[in-house]
Amino acid sequence: MRVLTGIQPSGQLHIGNYFGAIRPMLELQDRNEMYWFIANYHALTTVTDPERLRRQTWDVALDFLACGLDPSKTVFYRQSDVPEVQELAWLLSNVTPVGLLERCHSYKDKLAKGFAPHHGLFAYPVLMAADILMQQADVVPVGKDQKQHLEVTRDIAIKFNNLYGEVFRIPEPMIAESVAVVPGLDGQKMSKSYGNTLELFGDPKATRKRIMSIVTDSTPLEAPKNPDTCNVFALHKLFATPEQSADLAARYRAGGLGYGTAKKELAALFEEHFAPMRARREELAAHPDQVEAILQDGAARARKTARETLKAARRAVGLD
Ligand code: ADP
Ligand code: TRP
Repeated sequence: MRVLTGIQPSGQLHIGNYFGAIRPMLELQDRNEMYWFIANYHALTTVTDPERLRRQTWDVALDFLACGLDPSKTVFYRQSDVPEVQELAWLLSNVTPVGLLERCHSYKDKLAKGFAPHHGLFAYPVLMAADILMQQADVVPVGKDQKQHLEVTRDIAIKFNNLYGEVFRIPEPMIAESVAVVPGLDGQKMSKSYGNTLELFGDPKATRKRIMSIVTDSTPLEAPKNPDTCNVFALHKLFATPEQSADLAARYRAGGLGYGTAKKELAALFEEHFAPMRARREELAAHPDQVEAILQDGAARARKTARETLKAARRAVGLD
């Protein structure tokens, strides 16, 4: 199966992103033909500082490679290195009803928040459709927030195929229902916008401090505690083996375990999990030429399929 995913370069990754999105995707690369790109054209809809866009694009490339994205299995590229996608977006624009885009939640949310919308924001889903259809993806793993954009993609593809003949494969969404929401330091969903995150590649000392600041209830040290309502336990479980987790749960219930002890155990597991990735990230950062070569190789492979699809689409509409 050909699986495709795009991720906007939007700053420091946190463990909600890791357990909720990155790790499930990495598991797919072993059994599928995987396309994974950094959506920097899409980022232009909100990022207007060129230096910031450049830096975040590079950072996220290092992040994914450090986390285990394997460029020998996955076609990994920067969206802007495959400019064919822009031409395809134009061809798709002409079969995309304005009403379809006006109904998109992400667009309506921006309007509701008082943004003066520009055309890029409005056309965002058409470019996303071009990303997907260009590579003839079978499956697109999406979170709830992107589900509607995938429906738009399908609508556009069906309309194009009906009008001009079968050019595009119709992609299916893959919704990871099983992935639990990772809680933040305050117990709400972990999110950049709540400032309650644990960053994957933050400074280890600062991360440890943040772990020690996780909000807990005020059950006294000697009293039995309920693991199922505790943030520290929920986070610990993400890193622990089932045995380690059962052991900690038993100690919660027995009483005599302080939250501080549980936090220290969590900090140790966190470090054990991410220290090798941090080392790999530093290694990659020290060899930018190698990273650039990986991205260029990915772009060359992505452009090959892209050119084939674009050629068929151009012929279908009469631009050959
Ligand atoms: P943020 O809320 O920090 O802005 P994003 O919306 O950029 O995060 O998240 C990117 C992806 O990471 C989402 O599509 C989602 O799958 C995953 N993700 C983010 N936060 C969490 C979380 N707390 N728990 C599980 N998955 C998450
Ligand atoms: N819109 C997606 C997001 O913000 C990023 C994206 C762009 C994407 N093109 C895509 C995701 C194609 C999947 C497939 O998360």
